[in-house]
Amino acid sequence: MGFGRDIQSAIFRNGSTGLKPAIPAGWSDLESAAKHAMSREAWAYVKGSAGNESTEAANRAAIDRWKIVPRVLRDVDQRDLSIELLGRRYPTPLLAAPVGVLGMVDKQADIAVGRAAARLGVPYILSTQASVPMERVAQAMGDAPRWFQLYWSTSDELVESFVHRAEASKAQAIVVTLDTHMLGWRPRDLSLGYLPFAHGKGIAQYTSDPVFRRLVEERIARNQPAAKARIRPGTIHTLLDMTRNYPGGSLRSPLPRASVDTFLDVFSRSTLTWENLAWLRERTTLPIVLKGIQHPDDASRALAAGIDGLIVSNHAGRQMDNAIGSLDALPGIAERVNGAVPVLFDSGIRSGADMFVALALGASAVCVGRAYTYGLAIAGEQGAYEALRNIIAEFDIVLGLAGYASAGSIPREAVV
Ligand code: GLV
Repeated sequence: MGFGRDIQSAIFRNGSTGLKPAIPAGWSDLESAAKHAMSREAWAYVKGSAGNESTEAANRAAIDRWKIVPRVLRDVDQRDLSIELLGRRYPTPLLAAPVGVLGMVDKQADIAVGRAAARLGVPYILSTQASVPMERVAQAMGDAPRWFQLYWSTSDELVESFVHRAEASKAQAIVVTLDTHMLGWRPRDLSLGYLPFAHGKGIAQYTSDPVFRRLVEERIARNQPAAKARIRPGTIHTLLDMTRNYPGGSLRSPLPRASVDTFLDVFSRSTLTWENLAWLRERTTLPIVLKGIQHPDDASRALAAGIDGLIVSNHAGRQMDNAIGSLDALPGIAERVNGAVPVLFDSGIRSGADMFVALALGASAVCVGRAYTYGLAIAGEQGAYEALRNIIAEFDIVLGLAGYASAGSIPREAVV
């Protein structure tokens, strides 16, 4: 049997009693149901990639170019989906990628995804741009595995505080995202003139942080609330939004608005270089994983810097247009790293068959973001759970049908 067949049988058995899955199983139906379930601002933010979205298309094309070559008569009845990563055993080679501002998609947001991931033992990479502070998500997840994704703020003190909170929240790794030291040019958001962070959404890690709160107080004390804006109906709407999104916020308080302005100041820095990594290394004993690697030479630099793992990712095409498909970068990077540290793959994975291809090309594991975000939009925690579960179930079936019994040892020749 195996996980895939168990899930498949359960779905069909439930279906025969009239109980239907919470979300569609196929990608295009999933995507259109999610679009239908979201506000136009949420859809623009979640679906939106950079520029003409050609990198997102390249991500897909790069995966679609590879084909699996099945082998037969190899007794693959007992399949082992588990993998070893950074000194731990995880039940499958799937991780839930960090996705910001999930509160736009579902009220339970990161908590729902945390619970969904926990049900499957899928490590959830908590986002710096989350809608819920990491401590609350950690509490909802119990002992289930989680990592923490870090945007390197202009305030080192804030970075240190985030890292210490992540350690206290029992994160098992710090994932430093390197490709978003500026926000990409995203026409869907730009056309609506809507950035969730400017409305106080997706900044819960900041507003719950003692260092950030002190920076906000200092800003208010300097009497530097905000750039003056003409008062229009939209201004009032935004102020209400900011207040609603600020824990315990009141319209009379300068905190919600000053928090947004402080966030926009400290979010990230473009001055970072390889030299900065030593500073982080000194401040945490957790494994450090670099996300956003697309060039073998950067992988070599990461190894020289003593980094513990890499994620080959182009932020799912959200950061730069006309860039290479992320999977096109994977084989060269995996070859360069040559097993020295795990190489994870992210950007474009939609299915178990996609996962198989990435693993055959040298990935130790893969991350998915939009898939569970769509599930979450359609059916909350259950939707996020089914989205992750379906990918794993299909992966298990593809693994067996391709003639392999272990997720950790898919050979390169399994794809052409
Ligand atoms: C930021 O993390 C984004 O991709 O929107």
